Amino acid sequence: MLGNFSYENATKLYFGNNALKYLNREMQHWGKTIQLIYGGGSIKKNGIYDAVVEVLKMNDKIIVEDGGVMSNPTTDKVREGVRIARENNVDFLLAVGGGSCCDYAKAVSISINCDEDPWEKYYINFEEPTCEIVPVGCVLTMAGTGSEMNAGAVLTDPKSHRKYGHVFRNSKVMPKFAILNPEYTYSLPYNQMVSGIYDIFSHICEQYFSGEDDNTSDYISEGLMKSVIHSSLIAIKDPKDYEARSNIMWTATWALNTLISRGKKTDWMVHQLGQAAGGYTNATHGMTLAAVTLPYYRYIMPYGLQKFRRFATEVWGVDPTGKSDEEIAKAGLAALEDWMKTLGVTMSLSELGATEDMIEGIADGTRLLKGGYKPLTREEVVEILKESL
Ligand code: NZQ
Ligand code: ZN
Repeated sequence: MLGNFSYENATKLYFGNNALKYLNREMQHWGKTIQLIYGGGSIKKNGIYDAVVEVLKMNDKIIVEDGGVMSNPTTDKVREGVRIARENNVDFLLAVGGGSCCDYAKAVSISINCDEDPWEKYYINFEEPTCEIVPVGCVLTMAGTGSEMNAGAVLTDPKSHRKYGHVFRNSKVMPKFAILNPEYTYSLPYNQMVSGIYDIFSHICEQYFSGEDDNTSDYISEGLMKSVIHSSLIAIKDPKDYEARSNIMWTATWALNTLISRGKKTDWMVHQLGQAAGGYTNATHGMTLAAVTLPYYRYIMPYGLQKFRRFATEVWGVDPTGKSDEEIAKAGLAALEDWMKTLGVTMSLSELGATEDMIEGIADGTRLLKGGYKPLTREEVVEILKESL
């Protein structure tokens, strides 16, 4: 492990099928007026809304409703959330939902006491918050993004077709606590469950496929990858297998709470490509990643051959006997492809609504990062996007 780094994680987690009881304890620490943030209504159907409201009422909280957070939350919705928060002078933002609600809560939290426009300040100019941040808590209902234990927030600006993430350095952006009850994920539709599973796997890959040193983070990553593959194959057959769903939820958190990026440069180009495509298609996040993964990895594989070889043998159990390094690495990506097909994730951008005439715009919206095995040029981005169509 050759990097210099610090490690801190400010989020307290409560995990398990009894986890909601700790919301009561947490609510005793935070202010009176709670902005209750949720999505398009799933929590009203599965009973989570009622359970959360009961705890808030027990603690004499004033509840300020802020529902309708869409998947891939938009800049306009964040501006609306800021307005709601200011008008009601809220003390705390409680997100009840998936990564979209949690990201949205963070984006609102850093904008309430800030005069500048959130999109301009945080996503175009990449500034850090300078104002007082209103605290956020999260009751998670979907496993995938890791937003429950990190300082990232991704927004979409439909007018400019841009979808950008910002991982803030200020640990005050992180949720103060997150409640993770794996049973809450049972009601997810199948495509959201597998999209979340693929998102987890992609997060691990983004950090794993970088660097050439012998790094503890890579060994942890391999363990997490094996766990998510194993549990996914159980969950797709029996979505109510508690053990599998709990492993998936826990893996999601560790895949992106910054642990496995310690001492690593990290790549993140699958996410840059996928998010740029999401800016045009508004497609489900994990599916956009699935659509670009294989064209991208097949393209960069020769530049990081030894790591792709290791991925094949350590994660997928490819037998190296009698094979060249390239053959082994290719067999690893073939195994990944088989698993993706077994899950049923979307394997092409056109199935997500992208068309040939969007390619240049998607390429413009793709941030070119330099931490992976082959820093891409814009021309290479265009080729990979065409390959992903
Ligand atoms: O809106 P509702 O009605 O709640 O329905 C949601 C939504 O339609 C539904 N859902 C969630 N929990 C459910 C449920 N339906 C039934 N039962 C439940 N228990 O699932 C749909 C997707 O939810 P969403 O929150 O949008 O999904 P996800 O958790 O994948 O979040 C996606 C957003 O997170 C960003 C993505 O770009 C995207 O904007 N990301 C955030 C990251 C971070 N903060 O670190 C990293 C990720 O790479 C990602 O970019
Ligand atoms: Zn992701």
